[in-house]
Amino acid sequence: MDRWLECATADRVKGGTRLSICEIQPPMDSKSDRIFKACQDSEDRFPTRMKVRDSPLPEAALAAAVEWNQVERVGWMARVAGVESHDDGDVFWTYSDGEFWPGNQVVGAQFTAPLARARVAALLRYHLERRAACNWAIGSATVPPGLGTILRENGFSCRIHCRAMVATLNSQPGALGSVQGVDFQQSDVPVPLQPVTTPRRRAQFDGWVAVGRLRPQRVWYFGAIDSSIPVGTATLFEGERAAGIYDVEVIPSHQGRGIGTRLVREAMDLAGQHGFRTAVLSATAAGHGLYTRLGFRDVGVLSSWRYGRMRQRTL
Ligand SMILES: CC(C)(COP(=O)(O)OP(=O)(O)OC[C@H]1O[C@@H](n2cnc3c(N)ncnc32)[C@H](O)[C@@H]1OP(=O)(O)O)[C@@H](O)C(=O)NCCC(=O)NCCS
Repeated sequence: MDRWLECATADRVKGGTRLSICEIQPPMDSKSDRIFKACQDSEDRFPTRMKVRDSPLPEAALAAAVEWNQVERVGWMARVAGVESHDDGDVFWTYSDGEFWPGNQVVGAQFTAPLARARVAALLRYHLERRAACNWAIGSATVPPGLGTILRENGFSCRIHCRAMVATLNSQPGALGSVQGVDFQQSDVPVPLQPVTTPRRRAQFDGWVAVGRLRPQRVWYFGAIDSSIPVGTATLFEGERAAGIYDVEVIPSHQGRGIGTRLVREAMDLAGQHGFRTAVLSATAAGHGLYTRLGFRDVGVLSSWRYGRMRQRTL
């Protein structure tokens, strides 16, 4: 049985509708007990505001947790110098003028249905005026649910549908498997899978380094090295309620040897050691089997949409 907190819609106050993503807050980290105690104390005084529930966590809450972790992560990356961040109350978005990193991102949309078209048009206009591409993430908690249709009407195209997945973390995990000839490392500096030779790659790498150096630390990079050559990566981002696993990649020559599995295990283990009970990720078809074997299960869908070409400065 899970213990979780339900916050009433009528009490979405500060931050406007954005709070609806956290409408149901699962007890996903070790701070939860304190929060629940405080909420139970206040339940008598504010009976309509929040309820502590003891029942299986609703799937919708888990799906929202995956999307919310992504929103938090984009917000965290926007702390790096040179990245504009816009918290409009009904959506969060970042824009980096003149840079290739971290990619202009729109996340966590919570538009009212009558305003959705105008909001999409206004955000797109900002990018068009700067001749910059616009990336937009849509998840199960995005409002209104049909936002993809409106993006398509405005010239966006869907790049990829990923499975939103959730796993319960084990505080006492088993041994990590080894992979012959491959060393695994954990660091606050990412391991570049491609040589950092072009300005674009340099900007990306510098951005990831800057994110890894933000304090308090919420990002950890995992790398797999074969004879001094980086062959695999994974990133752990620790959100408020769940630990997110991102950027899982193994170079083609080294796939199918257990490197991806080991990298994800390392990220899950560290999150468990840090007190997280839940890990979330969005899975491509290539990673889905690996994650399922590690205990992740499908709870929803996350889609990436884009207006413009790959490089964010050119349309
Ligand atoms: C997804 C990805 C990270 C997997 O990395 P990987 O190192 O090949 O992963 P693993 O080797 O641990 O597992 C892959 C497969 O090899 C199998 N495998 C693992 N160890 C093995 C071994 N020692 N011998 C034979 N097969 C093995 C696994 O069972 C798994 O099988 P499946 O494909 O049927 O699920 C890699 O394919 C990749 O980088 N893809 C492109 C980027 C991407 O999509 N990333 C995922 C983002 S969510």
